[in-house]
Amino acid sequence: MVKSKIAGIGMYIPSNVVTNNDLLKYMDTSDEWIQERTGIKERHYAHRTEETTTTMGVEAAKIAIERAGITPQDIDFIIFATLCPDYYFPGCGVLLQRAMKMKEIGALDVRNQCSGFLYALSVADQFIKTGTYKNILVVGSEKHSFGLDFTTRGRNVSVIFGDGAGSVVLQPASKENQGILSTHLHSDGESAEILAMYNPGTHANHWKEEKYASFDEAEIAQMFFSHKMIDDGQVFPFMDGPAVFKKAIVKFPEVINEALQANGYNTGDLKLLIPHQANLRISQFVQQKLQLRDDQVYNNIQYYGNTTAASVPIALCEAWEKGLVKEGDLICLAAFGSGFTWASALLRW
Ligand code: ACO
Repeated sequence: MVKSKIAGIGMYIPSNVVTNNDLLKYMDTSDEWIQERTGIKERHYAHRTEETTTTMGVEAAKIAIERAGITPQDIDFIIFATLCPDYYFPGCGVLLQRAMKMKEIGALDVRNQCSGFLYALSVADQFIKTGTYKNILVVGSEKHSFGLDFTTRGRNVSVIFGDGAGSVVLQPASKENQGILSTHLHSDGESAEILAMYNPGTHANHWKEEKYASFDEAEIAQMFFSHKMIDDGQVFPFMDGPAVFKKAIVKFPEVINEALQANGYNTGDLKLLIPHQANLRISQFVQQKLQLRDDQVYNNIQYYGNTTAASVPIALCEAWEKGLVKEGDLICLAAFGSGFTWASALLRW
Protein backbone atom coordinates (compact mmCIF):
# COMPACT_ATOMS: atom_id res chain seq x y z
CA MET A 1 0.00 0.00 0.00
CA VAL A 2 1.24 3.48 -0.86
CA LYS A 3 2.49 5.59 2.05
CA SER A 4 1.79 9.28 2.50
CA LYS A 5 4.56 11.84 2.79
CA ILE A 6 4.81 15.44 3.91
CA ALA A 7 5.37 17.19 0.58
CA GLY A 8 5.33 20.74 1.94
CA ILE A 9 5.40 22.38 5.37
CA GLY A 10 4.81 25.93 6.58
CA MET A 11 4.35 27.96 9.74
CA TYR A 12 3.04 31.37 10.67
CA ILE A 13 3.92 33.20 13.86
CA PRO A 14 2.32 36.58 14.56
CA SER A 15 4.84 39.40 14.90
CA ASN A 16 3.76 40.66 18.33
CA VAL A 17 6.19 39.25 20.93
CA VAL A 18 4.94 39.12 24.53
CA THR A 19 7.63 38.49 27.13
CA ASN A 20 7.04 37.13 30.61
CA ASN A 21 7.69 40.58 31.97
CA ASP A 22 4.99 42.02 29.68
CA LEU A 23 2.47 39.80 31.50
CA LEU A 24 3.25 41.56 34.78
CA LYS A 25 1.03 44.41 33.55
CA TYR A 26 -2.01 42.15 33.93
CA MET A 27 -1.29 39.62 36.66
CA ASP A 28 0.82 38.79 39.66
CA THR A 29 3.51 36.55 38.20
CA SER A 30 7.24 36.67 37.45
CA ASP A 31 9.68 35.83 34.70
CA GLU A 32 11.49 33.56 37.16
CA TRP A 33 8.32 31.56 38.06
CA ILE A 34 7.31 31.08 34.44
CA GLN A 35 10.77 30.07 33.20
CA GLU A 36 11.42 27.75 36.11
CA ARG A 37 8.08 25.89 35.81
CA THR A 38 7.57 25.93 32.04
CA GLY A 39 10.78 27.03 30.28
CA ILE A 40 8.83 29.76 28.46
CA LYS A 41 10.58 33.10 27.91
CA GLU A 42 8.13 34.68 25.47
CA ARG A 43 5.20 33.93 23.21
CA HIS A 44 3.53 35.69 20.28
CA TYR A 45 -0.02 37.07 20.27
CA ALA A 46 -2.06 37.58 17.13
CA HIS A 47 -3.19 41.04 16.10
CA ARG A 48 -6.47 41.46 17.98
CA THR A 49 -8.66 42.34 14.98
CA GLU A 50 -6.69 41.56 11.85
CA GLU A 51 -5.66 37.98 12.63
CA THR A 52 -7.82 35.00 13.55
CA THR A 53 -7.18 31.30 14.00
CA THR A 54 -8.23 30.84 10.36
CA THR A 55 -6.16 33.67 8.87
CA MET A 56 -3.04 32.39 10.62
CA GLY A 57 -3.82 28.91 9.31
CA VAL A 58 -4.15 30.37 5.81
CA GLU A 59 -0.69 31.98 6.04
CA ALA A 60 0.92 28.71 7.15
CA ALA A 61 -1.01 26.80 4.45
CA LYS A 62 0.17 29.15 1.67
CA ILE A 63 3.78 28.30 2.50
CA ALA A 64 3.13 24.54 2.79
CA ILE A 65 1.28 24.53 -0.55
CA GLU A 66 4.00 26.51 -2.30
CA ARG A 67 6.72 24.24 -0.91
CA ALA A 68 4.76 21.22 -2.15
CA GLY A 69 4.94 22.76 -5.62
CA ILE A 70 1.17 22.95 -6.09
CA THR A 71 -1.56 25.62 -5.89
CA PRO A 72 -4.58 25.95 -3.55
CA GLN A 73 -6.77 24.65 -6.41
CA ASP A 74 -4.87 21.35 -6.34
CA ILE A 75 -5.87 20.63 -2.72
CA ASP A 76 -8.60 18.00 -2.60
CA PHE A 77 -9.30 17.81 1.14
CA ILE A 78 -8.81 20.08 4.19
CA ILE A 79 -8.39 19.02 7.80
CA PHE A 80 -8.23 21.87 10.33
CA ALA A 81 -7.34 21.26 13.98
CA THR A 82 -7.92 23.92 16.65
CA LEU A 83 -9.39 24.42 20.09
CA CYS A 84 -10.08 28.12 19.55
CA PRO A 85 -12.08 28.38 16.32
CA ASP A 86 -13.20 31.69 14.83
CA TYR A 87 -16.83 30.65 15.38
CA TYR A 88 -18.51 28.16 17.72
CA PHE A 89 -19.77 26.84 14.37
CA PRO A 90 -19.08 26.50 11.46
CA GLY A 91 -15.50 25.37 11.87
CA CYS A 92 -12.32 26.92 10.51
CA GLY A 93 -12.04 24.40 7.64
CA VAL A 94 -14.70 26.09 5.53
CA LEU A 95 -13.38 29.56 6.39
CA LEU A 96 -9.98 28.51 5.08
CA GLN A 97 -11.56 26.96 1.97
CA ARG A 98 -13.29 30.30 1.29
CA ALA A 99 -10.24 32.45 2.06
CA MET A 100 -7.99 30.39 -0.21
CA LYS A 101 -10.59 30.20 -3.00
CA MET A 102 -10.32 26.43 -3.12
CA LYS A 103 -12.64 24.12 -5.02
CA GLU A 104 -15.80 22.75 -3.31
CA ILE A 105 -13.74 20.10 -1.53
CA GLY A 106 -14.38 18.44 1.82
CA ALA A 107 -13.35 20.35 4.94
CA LEU A 108 -13.08 18.49 8.24
CA ASP A 109 -12.59 20.10 11.66
CA VAL A 110 -10.74 18.24 14.39
CA ARG A 111 -11.22 19.06 18.08
CA ASN A 112 -8.53 17.14 19.86
CA GLN A 113 -6.67 20.03 21.44
CA CYS A 114 -2.94 19.36 21.94
CA SER A 115 -3.04 16.12 19.95
CA GLY A 116 -5.31 17.66 17.28
CA PHE A 117 -2.63 17.93 14.62
CA LEU A 118 -1.62 14.28 15.01
CA TYR A 119 -5.24 13.12 14.90
CA ALA A 120 -5.68 15.23 11.74
CA LEU A 121 -2.49 13.83 10.22
CA SER A 122 -3.62 10.26 10.89
CA VAL A 123 -6.98 10.86 9.16
CA ALA A 124 -5.20 12.42 6.18
CA ASP A 125 -2.81 9.46 6.09
CA GLN A 126 -5.73 7.00 5.75
CA PHE A 127 -7.27 8.96 2.85
CA ILE A 128 -3.94 9.01 1.00
CA LYS A 129 -3.24 5.32 1.63
CA THR A 130 -6.64 4.29 0.26
CA GLY A 131 -6.08 6.45 -2.81
CA THR A 132 -9.12 8.65 -2.06
CA TYR A 133 -7.19 11.94 -2.20
CA LYS A 134 -3.83 13.08 -3.62
CA ASN A 135 -3.22 16.47 -1.94
CA ILE A 136 -4.51 16.93 1.60
CA LEU A 137 -3.97 20.15 3.51
CA VAL A 138 -3.59 19.64 7.28
CA VAL A 139 -3.61 22.73 9.48
CA GLY A 140 -3.13 23.33 13.21
CA SER A 141 -3.77 26.90 14.34
CA GLU A 142 -4.57 28.66 17.61
CA LYS A 143 -5.42 32.20 18.68
CA HIS A 144 -5.29 31.52 22.40
CA SER A 145 -4.69 35.13 23.34
CA PHE A 146 -8.39 35.94 22.77
CA GLY A 147 -9.72 33.44 25.29
CA LEU A 148 -7.44 33.57 28.32
CA ASP A 149 -8.04 35.01 31.77
CA PHE A 150 -5.41 37.74 32.04
CA THR A 151 -6.09 38.37 35.73
CA THR A 152 -4.10 36.74 38.53
CA ARG A 153 -6.99 34.24 38.87
CA GLY A 154 -6.07 32.68 35.52
CA ARG A 155 -2.28 32.96 35.67
CA ASN A 156 -1.54 29.22 35.97
CA VAL A 157 -3.08 28.75 32.50
CA SER A 158 -2.58 32.10 30.73
CA VAL A 159 1.20 32.32 31.01
CA ILE A 160 1.59 29.00 29.16
CA PHE A 161 -0.20 29.63 25.88
CA GLY A 162 0.78 31.42 22.67
CA ASP A 163 -0.63 31.96 19.19
CA GLY A 164 0.54 30.56 15.85
CA ALA A 165 -0.14 28.11 13.04
CA GLY A 166 1.52 25.24 11.24
CA SER A 167 0.49 23.33 8.15
CA VAL A 168 1.52 20.42 5.93
CA VAL A 169 0.50 19.08 2.55
CA LEU A 170 0.25 15.30 2.49
CA GLN A 171 0.73 13.43 -0.80
CA PRO A 172 1.35 9.82 -1.84
CA ALA A 173 5.06 9.03 -1.36
CA SER A 174 6.95 8.31 -4.55
CA LYS A 175 9.76 6.32 -2.91
CA GLU A 176 9.44 2.89 -1.32
CA ASN A 177 10.91 3.65 2.10
CA GLN A 178 9.54 7.14 2.65
CA GLY A 179 6.62 8.74 4.45
CA ILE A 180 4.39 8.04 7.44
CA LEU A 181 5.15 4.56 8.78
CA SER A 182 2.36 4.47 11.36
CA THR A 183 0.13 6.61 13.57
CA HIS A 184 -1.12 5.75 17.08
CA LEU A 185 -4.15 7.39 18.71
CA HIS A 186 -5.40 7.10 22.30
CA SER A 187 -7.89 8.62 24.71
CA ASP A 188 -9.00 8.38 28.33
CA GLY A 189 -12.03 10.53 29.15
CA GLU A 190 -11.89 9.74 32.87
CA SER A 191 -10.19 13.11 33.53
CA ALA A 192 -11.96 15.15 30.83
CA GLU A 193 -12.77 17.97 33.27
CA ILE A 194 -9.27 18.61 34.61
CA LEU A 195 -8.10 20.39 31.46
CA ALA A 196 -11.16 21.90 29.84
CA MET A 197 -13.18 24.93 28.88
CA TYR A 198 -16.74 24.17 30.00
CA ASN A 199 -18.64 27.20 28.75
CA PRO A 200 -20.47 28.00 26.61
CA GLY A 201 -21.70 24.42 26.26
CA THR A 202 -24.72 22.19 26.57
CA HIS A 203 -23.48 20.27 29.61
CA ALA A 204 -26.03 21.79 32.06
CA ASN A 205 -23.69 20.62 34.83
CA HIS A 206 -24.61 17.04 33.95
CA TRP A 207 -21.13 15.81 34.84
CA LYS A 208 -20.88 17.73 38.11
CA GLU A 209 -22.41 17.20 41.55
CA GLU A 210 -24.35 20.47 41.34
CA LYS A 211 -26.83 19.45 38.57
CA TYR A 212 -28.65 22.18 36.67
CA ALA A 213 -31.82 20.04 36.94
CA SER A 214 -32.25 21.44 40.43
CA PHE A 215 -32.39 25.04 39.10
CA ASP A 216 -35.59 26.86 38.08
CA GLU A 217 -36.60 27.58 34.46
CA ALA A 218 -35.22 31.13 34.41
CA GLU A 219 -31.85 30.00 35.71
CA ILE A 220 -31.65 27.10 33.24
CA ALA A 221 -32.39 29.51 30.37
CA GLN A 222 -29.21 31.38 31.33
CA MET A 223 -26.98 28.36 31.50
CA PHE A 224 -25.51 28.23 28.04
CA PHE A 225 -24.02 31.63 28.68
CA SER A 226 -24.72 33.85 31.69
CA HIS A 227 -23.45 36.93 33.48
CA LYS A 228 -22.55 34.70 36.43
CA MET A 229 -20.30 32.58 34.20
CA ILE A 230 -18.47 35.72 33.12
CA ASP A 231 -18.26 37.15 36.64
CA ASP A 232 -16.92 33.85 38.02
CA GLY A 233 -14.39 33.40 35.20
CA GLN A 234 -16.09 30.17 34.09
CA VAL A 235 -15.70 31.12 30.43
CA PHE A 236 -11.96 30.54 30.54
CA PRO A 237 -9.96 27.31 30.32
CA PHE A 238 -9.53 25.36 33.55
CA MET A 239 -6.42 23.27 34.23
CA ASP A 240 -5.25 21.15 37.14
CA GLY A 241 -1.60 21.59 36.14
CA PRO A 242 0.03 19.02 38.44
CA ALA A 243 -2.48 16.30 37.41
CA VAL A 244 -1.85 17.02 33.72
CA PHE A 245 1.90 16.89 34.29
CA LYS A 246 1.73 13.48 36.02
CA LYS A 247 -0.30 11.87 33.23
CA ALA A 248 1.70 13.51 30.43
CA ILE A 249 5.05 12.16 31.59
CA VAL A 250 3.66 8.61 31.52
CA LYS A 251 1.73 8.75 28.23
CA PHE A 252 4.34 10.63 26.15
CA PRO A 253 7.06 7.93 26.53
CA GLU A 254 4.47 5.16 26.14
CA VAL A 255 3.12 6.40 22.82
CA ILE A 256 6.60 7.16 21.46
CA ASN A 257 7.77 3.63 22.32
CA GLU A 258 4.59 2.24 20.77
CA ALA A 259 5.40 3.94 17.46
CA LEU A 260 9.02 2.77 17.50
CA GLN A 261 8.16 -0.82 18.44
CA ALA A 262 5.37 -1.07 15.85
CA ASN A 263 8.03 -0.51 13.19
CA GLY A 264 10.86 -2.53 14.73
CA TYR A 265 12.93 0.46 15.83
CA ASN A 266 14.30 1.70 19.14
CA THR A 267 15.18 5.14 20.49
CA GLY A 268 18.74 4.87 19.12
CA ASP A 269 17.32 4.84 15.57
CA LEU A 270 15.51 8.14 16.06
CA LYS A 271 16.98 11.19 14.34
CA LEU A 272 14.53 13.60 15.94
CA LEU A 273 11.63 13.55 18.38
CA ILE A 274 9.24 16.46 17.98
CA PRO A 275 7.09 16.48 21.10
CA HIS A 276 4.05 18.72 21.45
CA GLN A 277 5.39 21.80 23.20
CA ALA A 278 3.31 21.52 26.38
CA ASN A 279 5.95 22.52 28.87
CA LEU A 280 9.75 22.32 28.63
CA ARG A 281 9.86 20.35 31.90
CA ILE A 282 7.59 17.68 30.38
CA SER A 283 9.84 17.43 27.29
CA GLN A 284 12.95 17.18 29.47
CA PHE A 285 11.36 14.46 31.58
CA VAL A 286 10.41 12.49 28.44
CA GLN A 287 13.93 12.89 27.03
CA GLN A 288 15.44 11.59 30.25
CA LYS A 289 13.02 8.66 30.49
CA LEU A 290 13.77 7.60 26.90
CA GLN A 291 17.49 8.33 27.32
CA LEU A 292 17.58 10.52 24.24
CA ARG A 293 20.47 12.89 23.52
CA ASP A 294 19.85 16.66 23.34
CA ASP A 295 20.24 16.59 19.56
CA GLN A 296 17.44 13.99 19.30
CA VAL A 297 14.72 16.21 20.81
CA TYR A 298 13.49 19.49 19.33
CA ASN A 299 12.02 22.14 21.64
CA ASN A 300 11.00 25.72 20.89
CA ILE A 301 8.40 26.41 23.59
CA GLN A 302 10.86 28.96 25.02
CA TYR A 303 9.95 31.36 22.19
CA TYR A 304 6.36 30.46 21.28
CA GLY A 305 4.74 29.11 24.45
CA ASN A 306 2.29 26.23 24.10
CA THR A 307 0.44 26.63 20.80
CA THR A 308 -1.65 23.45 21.27
CA ALA A 309 -2.69 22.01 17.86
CA ALA A 310 -0.13 24.23 16.12
CA SER A 311 2.88 23.26 18.22
CA VAL A 312 3.91 20.03 16.44
CA PRO A 313 3.79 21.45 12.87
CA ILE A 314 5.49 24.68 14.01
CA ALA A 315 8.31 22.74 15.68
CA LEU A 316 8.64 20.34 12.73
CA CYS A 317 8.70 23.23 10.27
CA GLU A 318 11.30 25.14 12.25
CA ALA A 319 13.49 22.03 12.62
CA TRP A 320 13.21 21.38 8.88
CA GLU A 321 14.06 25.02 8.04
CA LYS A 322 17.17 24.73 10.24
CA GLY A 323 18.28 21.66 8.28
CA LEU A 324 17.73 19.30 11.20
CA VAL A 325 15.31 17.12 9.21
CA LYS A 326 16.72 15.58 6.03
CA GLU A 327 15.66 12.95 3.54
CA GLY A 328 15.87 9.48 5.06
CA ASP A 329 15.69 10.66 8.70
CA LEU A 330 13.47 8.79 11.15
CA ILE A 331 11.22 11.35 12.87
CA CYS A 332 8.73 10.80 15.68
CA LEU A 333 5.91 13.27 16.37
CA ALA A 334 4.11 12.91 19.70
CA ALA A 335 1.45 14.80 21.64
CA PHE A 336 -0.60 14.65 24.82
CA GLY A 337 -3.33 16.94 26.04
CA SER A 338 -6.89 17.69 27.05
CA GLY A 339 -9.35 14.84 26.91
CA PHE A 340 -7.05 13.24 27.75
CA THR A 341 -6.00 12.33 24.24
CA TRP A 342 -2.52 11.42 23.10
CA ALA A 343 -0.96 10.29 19.84
CA SER A 344 2.22 9.66 17.88
CA ALA A 345 3.35 9.34 14.29
CA LEU A 346 6.57 7.78 13.04
CA LEU A 347 7.81 8.90 9.66
CA ARG A 348 10.75 8.48 7.35
CA TRP A 349 11.42 11.92 5.80
N1 ACO B 1 2.93 32.97 38.43
C1 ACO B 1 3.21 32.90 39.74
N2 ACO B 1 2.67 31.98 40.57
C2 ACO B 1 1.80 31.11 40.03
C3 ACO B 1 1.45 31.12 38.67
C4 ACO B 1 2.06 32.11 37.86
N3 ACO B 1 1.81 32.21 36.55
N4 ACO B 1 0.59 30.13 38.45
C5 ACO B 1 0.37 29.50 39.59
N5 ACO B 1 1.10 30.09 40.57
C6 ACO B 1 1.19 29.73 41.97
C7 ACO B 1 -0.05 29.01 42.46
O1 ACO B 1 -1.04 29.94 42.84
C8 ACO B 1 0.49 28.24 43.63
O2 ACO B 1 0.61 29.10 44.71
P1 ACO B 1 0.32 28.57 46.22
O3 ACO B 1 1.34 27.50 46.46
O4 ACO B 1 0.52 29.79 47.04
O5 ACO B 1 -1.07 28.06 46.19
C9 ACO B 1 1.91 27.87 43.19
O6 ACO B 1 2.23 28.78 42.12
C10 ACO B 1 2.04 26.46 42.69
O7 ACO B 1 0.94 26.18 41.80
P2 ACO B 1 0.87 24.84 41.01
O8 ACO B 1 -0.28 24.89 40.05
O9 ACO B 1 0.90 23.70 41.98
O10 ACO B 1 2.23 24.95 40.22
P3 ACO B 1 3.05 23.85 39.51
O11 ACO B 1 4.37 23.76 40.13
O12 ACO B 1 2.30 22.58 39.35
O13 ACO B 1 3.22 24.51 38.08
C11 ACO B 1 2.25 24.33 35.93
C12 ACO B 1 2.09 24.85 37.35
C13 ACO B 1 3.40 25.05 35.27
C14 ACO B 1 0.97 24.62 35.17
C15 ACO B 1 2.55 22.84 36.02
O14 ACO B 1 1.61 22.19 36.82
C16 ACO B 1 2.52 22.21 34.67
O15 ACO B 1 3.33 22.49 33.84
N6 ACO B 1 1.62 21.29 34.47
C17 ACO B 1 1.48 20.65 33.17
C18 ACO B 1 0.37 21.28 32.50
C19 ACO B 1 0.70 21.68 31.12
O16 ACO B 1 1.77 21.53 30.60
N7 ACO B 1 -0.29 22.19 30.52
C20 ACO B 1 -0.16 22.64 29.21
C21 ACO B 1 -1.44 22.50 28.52
S1 ACO B 1 -1.89 20.88 28.37
C22 ACO B 1 -0.85 20.25 27.34
O17 ACO B 1 -0.47 20.91 26.42
C23 ACO B 1 -0.43 18.96 27.68
